[in-house]
Amino acid sequence: MTLTNIDHEKQIYCFKVFRSFLVVLLLRMNNPCIGCSEREMQALLTLKQGLVGDDSDRLLSWGREAQNRNCCQWEGVYCSSNQTGHVVELDLEDQSLQGKISPELVKLQHLEYLNLRFNNLSRSQIPDFIGSLSNLRHLDLSSANFGGEIPNQLGNLTHLQYLDLSSPGLPENSIHAKNLNWLPSLSGLKHLDLSSTNLSDVVGWLEAVNMLPKLTNLILDGCNLPPIIFSVAIINSSNSLVHVDLSRNNLNSSIFQWLSGTHTNLVYLDLSMNYFRGSSIPAAFGNMSSLEYLIIYGSELEGGFPNSFAKLCRLRYLELFRNSLSGQLTKFVEILSECDQNTLEYLDISYNKDIVGSLPDLTNFLSLKHLFLGGNNLSGRIPESIGRMSELETIHFAWNSLEGVISETHFSKLSKLSYLDLSSNSLLLNFSFDWIPPFQLQGIKLKSCKMWPSSFPKWLQTQKNYTSLDISDAGISDTIPSWFWDLSQKLEDMDISHNQMRGTVGNTRLEYAQYLNLSWNQLKGPLPSVLSKVAALDLSHNNFSGAASFFIETLKLSNNRFVGEMPSQLKNCRKLALLDLGENNLSSSIPKWLGASLPNLGILILRGNQFYRSIPPQLCHLTRIQILDLSRNKISGTIPKCLNNLIPLAQKGNSSLTIQHHYTFQLGEGLSSWLYDDEASLTWKGVRSKYQSTLGLVKSIDLSSNKLTGEIPSEITDLVGLVSLNLSRNQLTGQIPSRIGMLQELDSLDLSRNHINGRIPNSLSRIDRIGYLDLLENELSGKIPIGTQLQSFGPSSYGGNPLLCGLPLLRTCNEEEKGPGQTVLVNQEDKDGLITQGFYISLGLGFAVGFWGVFGTLLFNRSCRYTYFNFWTCFTNWLYVKAPLR
Ligand SMILES: *[C@@H]1O[C@H](CO)[C@@H](O)[C@H](O)[C@H]1NC(C)=O
Ligand SMILES: *[C@@H]1O[C@H](CO)[C@@H](O)[C@H](O)[C@H]1NC(C)=O
Ligand SMILES: *[C@@H]1O[C@H](CO)[C@@H](O)[C@H](O)[C@H]1NC(C)=O
Ligand SMILES: *[C@@H]1O[C@H](CO)[C@@H](O)[C@H](O)[C@H]1NC(C)=O
Ligand SMILES: *[C@@H]1O[C@H](CO)[C@@H](O)[C@H](O)[C@H]1NC(C)=O
Ligand SMILES: *[C@@H]1O[C@H](CO)[C@@H](O)[C@H](O)[C@H]1NC(C)=O
Ligand SMILES: *[C@@H]1O[C@H](CO)[C@@H](O)[C@H](O)[C@H]1NC(C)=O
Repeated sequence: MTLTNIDHEKQIYCFKVFRSFLVVLLLRMNNPCIGCSEREMQALLTLKQGLVGDDSDRLLSWGREAQNRNCCQWEGVYCSSNQTGHVVELDLEDQSLQGKISPELVKLQHLEYLNLRFNNLSRSQIPDFIGSLSNLRHLDLSSANFGGEIPNQLGNLTHLQYLDLSSPGLPENSIHAKNLNWLPSLSGLKHLDLSSTNLSDVVGWLEAVNMLPKLTNLILDGCNLPPIIFSVAIINSSNSLVHVDLSRNNLNSSIFQWLSGTHTNLVYLDLSMNYFRGSSIPAAFGNMSSLEYLIIYGSELEGGFPNSFAKLCRLRYLELFRNSLSGQLTKFVEILSECDQNTLEYLDISYNKDIVGSLPDLTNFLSLKHLFLGGNNLSGRIPESIGRMSELETIHFAWNSLEGVISETHFSKLSKLSYLDLSSNSLLLNFSFDWIPPFQLQGIKLKSCKMWPSSFPKWLQTQKNYTSLDISDAGISDTIPSWFWDLSQKLEDMDISHNQMRGTVGNTRLEYAQYLNLSWNQLKGPLPSVLSKVAALDLSHNNFSGAASFFIETLKLSNNRFVGEMPSQLKNCRKLALLDLGENNLSSSIPKWLGASLPNLGILILRGNQFYRSIPPQLCHLTRIQILDLSRNKISGTIPKCLNNLIPLAQKGNSSLTIQHHYTFQLGEGLSSWLYDDEASLTWKGVRSKYQSTLGLVKSIDLSSNKLTGEIPSEITDLVGLVSLNLSRNQLTGQIPSRIGMLQELDSLDLSRNHINGRIPNSLSRIDRIGYLDLLENELSGKIPIGTQLQSFGPSSYGGNPLLCGLPLLRTCNEEEKGPGQTVLVNQEDKDGLITQGFYISLGLGFAVGFWGVFGTLLFNRSCRYTYFNFWTCFTNWLYVKAPLR
């Protein structure tokens, strides 16, 4: 939902509140002593019974006690003003009602207004008897958790003017319709909102809509609307439409033809998140002379602005980000500045990649408040004239190729600026030492902008309100001043990584921090304290020191100098899903409580420490683990047999972990901060749009470079989902389990540098996916099985096993070594499969890019490797995997 939507909803809401108020007032004033019929009162009481159950706290005023008998005075009940006093209006919005609607409702035959918005009808079907309330003019069943199919009987409500069945925010579309044949009967309908109902099967939806001559508001957001098969029947579109929202559907560009028809009254048009690949913005849109809001983001639109846009002189809000628009920015600006009086307040054409050229003078746009041009291919300097656009609140120019020096002149009159993002360009910021900016920023994003001089930017001290700061990779080489930590106490996200900042964090309490990246600096001393909200913390590559038990909830602590035991406070982090303590100097046994206390752990990385003793069998209680990395420690003993309890590893394919990133932003209130909700998915502040990505994790076990002894337990072959297994550089003995071929998902197997003996099992040659094999320096013997893969690895995979023979080794086998019954194994399975489900990795540019990040799902093939995993918290089971983009 966009900002505008919110405004708009608010307006509608306020209007409704006001209207209800007026109705009540008029009714009460005109006729204070109207009664209500026994029949209708009885119907209402039955209705109440079904909706409140035993909850005596709700609809208290509804009762048959003597003082209550006039149902016209009950909460939410309004009667007609004549003697009979029929119930005409029932407004039960947001009453926490639950249960079922009694068919007695139909006894309220005079009902004109029915509102059940924001209640919980437990997915029950919209009752078909509602169709008998033939006087209804206003029916609002939105966000009431109805389910099932929309009853055709709604078509009987021929007086209806307002129909809202939307359920935004519900995870799946629970109301659906097979057709909208009932719709054309509602010929007086002005407002139709079916958002988030499932209309994927409704082929003729547009024809149905077209038959509503009075329709002004058409809101079908997120309805899975199928693409339109264009027919003559839909050419004549209704001329009455004012507000059209068809976002988040499967529409193709045929919809343009319909819209281009005669919609001269259209004020608001949202077509975001559809599929318009190969199409450009139709020139006919230029004829929509009333248009104020045009919103089409994320829809693969191509080309530039049509020249006809010069006629859109009322346009205030133009939002076209994440398309494939192309062309010179100067041309866009030229077209938009033709009107005598430029009304544009909001321009977002960010993340179109092919909008090129330099940034022209924009001072014609006197009303412009929000300007988003990031993620394109703009070059050249930023003109100083921008400093005169005194209405500007947002500047987002990140991820372009802008260059040159930014000086105080660029901001001279920008007293309203609250969000500035110049990240990832080639800009040099040169402000005088005692510069006092005219603005108070909330969001400061200056990643990779070089600061000149390289001392810590002093102007930051004048900014008292910011909650989001990114000055990473800014070439700052200085000791961090203590005022900075004072100002940072309010920060929600902070990235000062990749500088040469020195000093200590002092006694800083970063209570609000949700994202904190101090990595790659020269900070030392103890860690900052109280990080209770942090969702992402990266303190790696510094010189922080101290005993590890000083901190809690802090998870990516790799590459520091922590010593001692694993902090037992971690026990409290039951929701912890990723724990990365790699590359420190922790020395203790692996705590037994890990298994019991951190049941949600999906990733455990303890590599490169001094952990000793054996792997506790309790670790097998980590039934959600997908990545277990204990490599490069001093762990001894045998590999526990219970490993086959690790459920995700024992299941093929995609994990059940579905991670939702809701990312959104809110203007004016700390644009780039994010929150996670109770369900622990990541949510960006406010609401805007939602992208989902399913994260099937790489499943791997790495126990390499330890002191493990004994045999590889045969139970390991139960872990059929395993993608990577590294047991190299231990002192393992015995044979490779004969059923190793069960590990059909295995992409990489490293058993090198052990004392494993016996033959290589035939079944190994049946693992079709295997892309890396290392059996070097063991005591294997006999003939290397013939199979599709095993010969392709070359001698280097088998060397250092003196008794091994057969291809690809030069040493040929004698009869004895060939072993019994060896046959050439032919694999029947489909072989061209790239690694499938298990290898979908969510590509998290989001974090690096900031709030505006581009998100996608990347299909990895076996040559792509994940590089590293980041952080996690006690509060979230949200996972972030960073991967190289190929
Ligand atoms: C009173 O109002 C109801 C509904 O508004 C209507 O059906 C009825 O005819 C009216 N009665 C009189 C006496 O006006
Ligand atoms: C209501 O609609 C249903 C189905 O569309 C129809 O069979 C029925 O006759 C209608 N009832 C009235 C009173 O119009
Ligand atoms: C919508 O309905 C179709 C079939 O009617 C179904 O295949 C699809 O999964 C549904 N989509 C959602 C999001 O509920
Ligand atoms: C469209 O409207 C025109 C004029 O209003 C009319 O002549 C024509 O028959 C209509 N076409 C259809 C398919 O309804
Ligand atoms: C922290 O910043 C570094 C360098 O700028 C980056 O490589 C790393 O991914 C960041 N960490 C997190 C958790 O985002
Ligand atoms: C880690 O600790 C060991 C002693 O426990 C010490 O010998 C070694 O130098 C330490 N390594 C680092 C990198 O601090
Ligand atoms: C296995 O781990 C060792 C270090 O412990 C590493 O050198 C080797 O490359 C790893 N093997 C694979 C296939 O990643």
